[in-house]
Amino acid sequence: MSLDIVILAAGQGTRMRSAIPKVLHPVAGNSMLGHVIHSARQLAPNGIHVVIGHGADLVRERLAAPDLNFVLQDQQLGTGHAVAQALPALTAETVLILYGDVPLIEVDTLKRLLALVTPEQLGLLTVNLADPTGYGRIVRDGAGNVSAIVEHKDASQAQRAINEGNTGILAVPGKRLAEWLGRLSNHNAQGEYYLTDVIAMAVSDGLVVATEQPLDAMEVQGANDRRQLAELERHYQLREGRRLMAQGVTLRDPARFDVRGEVTVGRDVLIDVNVILEGKVVIEDDVVIGPNCYIKDSTLRQGVVLKANTHLDGAVMGEGSDAGPFARLRPGTVMDARAHVGNFVELKNTHMHEDAKAGHLAYLGDADIGARTNIGAGTITCNYDGANKWRTVMGEDVFIGSNNSLVAPVDIQAGATTAAGSTITQEVPAGQLAVGRARQRNIDGWKRPEKIRKS
Ligand code: UD1
Ligand code: CA
Repeated sequence: MSLDIVILAAGQGTRMRSAIPKVLHPVAGNSMLGHVIHSARQLAPNGIHVVIGHGADLVRERLAAPDLNFVLQDQQLGTGHAVAQALPALTAETVLILYGDVPLIEVDTLKRLLALVTPEQLGLLTVNLADPTGYGRIVRDGAGNVSAIVEHKDASQAQRAINEGNTGILAVPGKRLAEWLGRLSNHNAQGEYYLTDVIAMAVSDGLVVATEQPLDAMEVQGANDRRQLAELERHYQLREGRRLMAQGVTLRDPARFDVRGEVTVGRDVLIDVNVILEGKVVIEDDVVIGPNCYIKDSTLRQGVVLKANTHLDGAVMGEGSDAGPFARLRPGTVMDARAHVGNFVELKNTHMHEDAKAGHLAYLGDADIGARTNIGAGTITCNYDGANKWRTVMGEDVFIGSNNSLVAPVDIQAGATTAAGSTITQEVPAGQLAVGRARQRNIDGWKRPEKIRKS
């Protein structure tokens, strides 16, 4: 069955009190509209049509993609008017209506809804609410069949007592849509062209309106203000946490865990509190992540251990390697198996081969560090001359003494040693000791200065 998806995203969102359009506000690091588009794509539709209005240029600019058709709704005259703007582009047998400010809708729910649609039947997603104030009410006849939707502001007292609310999400046979939208009027409490009036028209044309419900009411919750945005965020995070726990991750506290991107996990992973995963993160089996770690676009191979407060961005950590506490691995960092970095070590565009170690207080940028090489505390690569970046290359089994300055470009060959406090500016041949510091001298009979007394 061919499918067109229309996403309504033209509204202003006044209650956000924001310079940016409502649908661009983020949930879990992606705009609300971005989440809806992501779900829409998983249904493999023929077309995705996004109706934009307020902040249209910004929305288009932020989300432009070859598979999206942006349709401008100049004036927001109602949800029915909004869908009508997309009509010329709709060609599929079924049209599904979604909302740019309802980001948590699940693909499985939409599939159940779409399964209801035939040339003689609509699918309507409804939700039972303890307090349905503001929602359109689902009106059913004596036999329990849906006969209409009445908007809250147009509803009678008796209709307002109905707890079944309209989510707005709807799937209809495409052939009929143009005719129904053409018959809409705005003679109602809000002076708008209501998409919901299509329901009564379909029923009077002899179609059946079948309903489905979301598994969780939060799926159909929109965000009108920042408080609701925060509620969606927490709900999303809890859902993501549950998904990871189901796959074999222990979360010390699912309420203190945030995912802002796509995470794949192995089994027996342990994640302590206040960990943030951003972008594309791959975590293999038996990884342990300590508290307060921030991990972006990185891969942690089997058995990696991150200690508290470690910051990763664009790093690949090999099997059994470890970092932290308070380590910072910047883009281009590669640690091979069992490599180790300890507290206050920063790596950038640096490859540490197997079993290489930098235990404390170091900056290693644009470096290649051979297997089993040990970097002493306080060592830095002087990789930047003010104009260009240069590489520092260390062979296998090198021993860099404490507090070295390695002035790149420089090559320290296998098995070489550098003395503590050295400034290394030249190649160190294999196996040799480099001493790059002034020799100590002791001055006999030297007197400390004495304090001058004020009279
Ligand atoms: C709508 C439904 C109501 C349902 C509720 C669920 C109608 C007439 N009513 O009411 O039955 O219970 O959603 O939240 O459909 N939009 C446009 N262009 C417009 C008008 C709206 O793009 O001209 C977009 C808005 O940005 C918003 C969505 O459509 O994302 C819903 O519009 P809104 O005016 O909030 O409808 P409700 O009054 O909430
Ligand atoms: Ca609304």
